Amino acid sequence: MKVALIPGSFDPFHNGHLAVVRLAARHFDKVVVAAVRNPGKEPLFSLEDRELMLKECLEEFDNVTSRSFSGLVVELAGEIRATAIVKGLRAVSDLENELQMAQMNYRMSGIDTLFVPATSSESFLASKYLKEFARGGRVAELASMVPPPVARRLQEIYGPGSDKEGSS
Ligand code: PNS
Repeated sequence: MKVALIPGSFDPFHNGHLAVVRLAARHFDKVVVAAVRNPGKEPLFSLEDRELMLKECLEEFDNVTSRSFSGLVVELAGEIRATAIVKGLRAVSDLENELQMAQMNYRMSGIDTLFVPATSSESFLASKYLKEFARGGRVAELASMVPPPVARRLQEIYGPGSDKEGSS
């Protein structure tokens, strides 16, 4: 049984992430998408919120499940018996860090990392910039870049009438 683990901060999950999940779902028997706590980042959404959004965003897939995790990616990979870690790459600039993580994870666990290149229509998407534009009051235009459950949450936080409307 081929099992893929797709780990990420997913703060929030966007259409570039969804494209990676869709591809993995075609090539693996089972895919686990995990919102992982990244101690190096201060998230907008709590880990529980991100897990909930992942669940809603991934309902269409029969062989994809989602969860959250606080710990090392290789520990989760072992726990779910993943046969590979799958990560998206948007640009060469992503490669340097990701390559190091892939090599470190392989050295520590023997698990392979497979990279999925972003399609040209999604390669600009980054959670960091989605949050910046949402904060800057451009939340409505982000609806085409994220799955509907994420668009709804961003609207609740940054849309008209919200506490943080145009708060940057
Ligand atoms: O780029 P992201 O989405 O913030 O990725 C987060 C994460 C944790 C998936 C990524 O940093 C990673 O794969 N790290 C590998 C090292 C590890 O296991 N870190 C876990 C937290 S200490």
